[in-house]
Amino acid sequence: MLPLRGLPSLAGPLPSFAPATAPPAPSPLFAAWLAEAVEAGVREPHAVTLSTVDGRGRPSARVLILKDLKGDGWQFASTRAGRKGRELAANPRAALTFYWSALGRQVRVRGAVSAAGADVSAADFLGRSPSARAVALAGRQGQRLTDPGEVGPAVEQARARIDADPGLVSPDWTLYTLHADEVEFWQGDPDRRHIRLSYRLGEDGWTKELLWP
Ligand SMILES: Cc1cc2nc3c(=O)[nH]c(=O)nc-3n(C[C@H](O)[C@H](O)[C@H](O)COP(=O)(O)O)c2cc1C
Repeated sequence: MLPLRGLPSLAGPLPSFAPATAPPAPSPLFAAWLAEAVEAGVREPHAVTLSTVDGRGRPSARVLILKDLKGDGWQFASTRAGRKGRELAANPRAALTFYWSALGRQVRVRGAVSAAGADVSAADFLGRSPSARAVALAGRQGQRLTDPGEVGPAVEQARARIDADPGLVSPDWTLYTLHADEVEFWQGDPDRRHIRLSYRLGEDGWTKELLWP
C-alpha cells in the first residue's frame, strides 16, 4: 500500500468563505459555489454522491450527475429498476455529497425524495445522448452479468430501436427530486479550522447556524 499518511489533503491555497454574508436560503449559495467550481475548472462539478438506505437500514452510495436545481429541489435521474431505485421506493430519503477538491469545498444535502411523473421523466430521458439512452433501454442495470459478450448486441439492438423510433422512452427511467431539509456548506482550511454553515428547514423556513469544525 502507498504511504497514504504522506499524501497531502486540503493543501492550500483555498478560497475564503464569509458565512455572515450567506443568503437566507441554501439554493442561491449552492448555485454560487457550483459556478465557482466551474470557474475554477473542477472536472464534472455536477457529479455528486447519492446515499440511500435499504429496508434494513444498510447504506449504499454511488456517484451520479445533478440534473438541475429547482427551488429547494436537487434533481437527478436514473432507472427505478436498479438498487437505488428500489431503495428509494422502500425508503424515500437520501443524502447528496458534493466535493470540489480544487476549492476544498464540500456540500451535504439531506431530504425526502420524490419521483417525477412519466412525462417529466420521459423528457429527461429524451434529453440524453442516443448512446446513453440505448444503454438505459437495454435495461438490467446492476443485474448479474454472466457473459460480457451479451452487452454489445443488447445495446446495439436498443440503439436500432431508438434510430427507428427517436421518441422511444425507457419506462423505468425516472427523474427524482431530493427536497432538501438540511444543507451544509463546508469550506476546508489547510490549518483544519474549517468553516461549516448549516441550513435547516423548519416550519418558519430556513435557519442558519455555524458548526464547530
Ligand atoms: C461521473 C459519474 C456519473 C454518473 N451519472 C449517473 C447518472 O446520472 N445516473 C445513473 O443512474 N448512474 C450514473 N452513474 C453510475 C452510478 O454511479 C451507478 O453505477 C449506477 O447508477 C448504479 O447504481 P445502483 O446500482 O446503486 O442503482 C454515474 C457514475 C459516474 C462515475
